[in-house]
Amino acid sequence: MAQVSDHYDGSAPSYHEQYDPEKIWTNAEYPANYFRLNKVMRILKSRNVASVYELGAAEGSPIIRIAQELGVNVRASDLSSEMVRLGKENFQRNGLDPDLHTQVDINDRDAVRAEADRVGQFDAVIALGVIPHVEDDAWFVEAMSLFLKPGGTLILQFRNAMFSMFTFNRLTKEFILDDLMAPIGQQFKDQVAHDLDQRLAVDKPPKREWDKDAPAYDEILARFHNPFELSDVVAQQGFVDVSFTWYNFHPTYPMIAGGIDPTEYRRQQIELEDDESWRGMFLCSAGMIVATRAA
Ligand SMILES: C[S@@+](CC[C@H](N)C(=O)[O-])C[C@H]1O[C@@H](n2cnc3c(N)ncnc32)[C@H](O)[C@@H]1O
Repeated sequence: MAQVSDHYDGSAPSYHEQYDPEKIWTNAEYPANYFRLNKVMRILKSRNVASVYELGAAEGSPIIRIAQELGVNVRASDLSSEMVRLGKENFQRNGLDPDLHTQVDINDRDAVRAEADRVGQFDAVIALGVIPHVEDDAWFVEAMSLFLKPGGTLILQFRNAMFSMFTFNRLTKEFILDDLMAPIGQQFKDQVAHDLDQRLAVDKPPKREWDKDAPAYDEILARFHNPFELSDVVAQQGFVDVSFTWYNFHPTYPMIAGGIDPTEYRRQQIELEDDESWRGMFLCSAGMIVATRAA
């Protein structure tokens, strides 16, 4: 498996494009993170936060927008040296102190504790697109809580394993066999595996190969999370009022999306981003846990 930092070092120069409002309709890849950021800002605003720390902040595009539009104090860190180098430039260009962005690997517990001691506690801590790349969920949430005041807000993004119930492909097969049927005997699983091979498009999805000079996203650790299991981890780490919010809606399962007019498809996707119902748990390939650190 390729190094996570190599992938993100390679994607750093073009990373900002997904947050460019001009490109919402023209980006080849659906700019899901643009809608995620809008949602995050609505949550932060509704909770009247005055300070935000972002773990895995890339080259700063989202946290700079949060600082500018919400007028809050921010700090940030990331694993990738190239993301942090560009991030410092971006902070400076936008009138923020470049020292507010620093290099920290969340897997390095001493470094995370030292950073938390150095910067203190915040009203909100966000980690968007980061937990898929880390093995230890409990430590990840504990690391977030180190930066958070009691009563503060956690926003934790994850890739949604439940979406596989709407994809009818290899991911559906893996979820049914490895998760849903986990407590069930092997002979039953073998029967189901054989049957699913006839019913599902197990040759899909294809591997993403949009990165030519750096390892592609599918070549690095990029885990899906079961929302119920991850919200249990969050609760066990001392959080209350744990809830979900969803984004990156898929109006059809991806393998038939190509048969629909791309502009119409995108219009429907964008419209769905305001849906706050239970449907997101199945129609969305990603979600966020919002929770409050117990006072
Ligand atoms: C998908 S990007 C998300 C960036 C940003 N949070 C956003 O919302 O656009 C994931 C980021 O997490 C960082 N990352 C991955 N593993 C990390 C780790 N172990 N420690 C710190 N950052 C990490 C990557 O370098 C990358 O910049």
